[in-house]
Amino acid sequence: MTNQSISQKTGLPKASGRICWQSPANIALVKYWGKYPLQIPMNPSLSFVLKESVVKICMDYLIDPGSPFQLVSFLLNGQVNAVFKSRIQKYLESLVPFFPFLQHAQLHIDSESSFPHSAGIASSAAAFSALALCICSIEETIGREAADGDEFLRKASFISRLGSGSACRSLYDGMVLWGKTDLQAGSSDDFAIRLGESKVHRSFLNIKDSVLIVNSDRKKVSSSAGHALMHHHPYREQRKEQASANLKKLLNALEKGDMSLFGKVIENEALSLHSLMMSSNPGYILMHPNTIRLLEKIRDFRTETGIQAYFTLDAGPNIHLLYSEADATHVIPFIKDELAGLCQNGRWIDDGMGPGPQKPEAGG
Ligand code: DP6
Repeated sequence: MTNQSISQKTGLPKASGRICWQSPANIALVKYWGKYPLQIPMNPSLSFVLKESVVKICMDYLIDPGSPFQLVSFLLNGQVNAVFKSRIQKYLESLVPFFPFLQHAQLHIDSESSFPHSAGIASSAAAFSALALCICSIEETIGREAADGDEFLRKASFISRLGSGSACRSLYDGMVLWGKTDLQAGSSDDFAIRLGESKVHRSFLNIKDSVLIVNSDRKKVSSSAGHALMHHHPYREQRKEQASANLKKLLNALEKGDMSLFGKVIENEALSLHSLMMSSNPGYILMHPNTIRLLEKIRDFRTETGIQAYFTLDAGPNIHLLYSEADATHVIPFIKDELAGLCQNGRWIDDGMGPGPQKPEAGG
């Protein structure tokens, strides 16, 4: 619903309405680790979005040329959240150069997260991409010529990145690449792109991701602090080379449908990410004892059964177990019988590759 009129005094549109977007979290296969100012990544990364782990944001807006910007309210799952409100306020203020209408916007934001309460899964990529989509939709609604679909998503990806780097990869379904690389035409440090269908073998479509919740406490060291430690890291240059080499192998595996190479690369990326944390100065450990136990069990299961299930890790203790949909009948009983017991309160989430952001009706 939108109401719009032109202010006689300034010629700017006065408009009000409500926009909603739902956007997913993503899991990186080649990790973004280390960044320059304005979330320019030190290396290219590649990920896919999840189906169940999503954030829905509804934004009520009033654009009044006579009033300054104000984030009037921010609710997370129906509750006031002062910490998030202040982070989002700063983020929206930083977007004024790209969206001048924000200078005169009064916003009420309702955010709902599907992430199980304190599951220890980062929701910032889902939240910032949903916010970015709402802002781009408002811009389109209040009169700028409608962008074509590609341009709209590129801009949303660009401004998502300014909120949280990995958020720029949450805008697309399929496999998504962020970061300039000679390996892919059209790639950019500024926004993510979706790999074309011919570049991803059908065996990777609908890939499953079972998230094993080892610990849901707040992380001792944030990703932002971890990225910062890469500036003076003794292996910084080697990491950039390694990420590019792993990306090359992964692109090859995705195109050929080579699950075994896929698995080698993603496990190497996960273990390298945590090794980089341990060898930072100061070093730190985000894995828990049960993370290691689970990783060993996953490798043993693979050796014993030949079933191709591989792990990756975010910057935390929880494990993403990836396998093809066809193997779910073997992997799910293995999770229930052997892995769930090592998860916090037996918790794991049955997730997988999702369809990307959705625009629900603005009523709810
Ligand atoms: C380990 O995107 O959360 O998940 O840009 O500071 O918001 P900021 O960092 P963030 O870092 C994600 C790091 C990672 C790897 C990845 O998703 O590529």
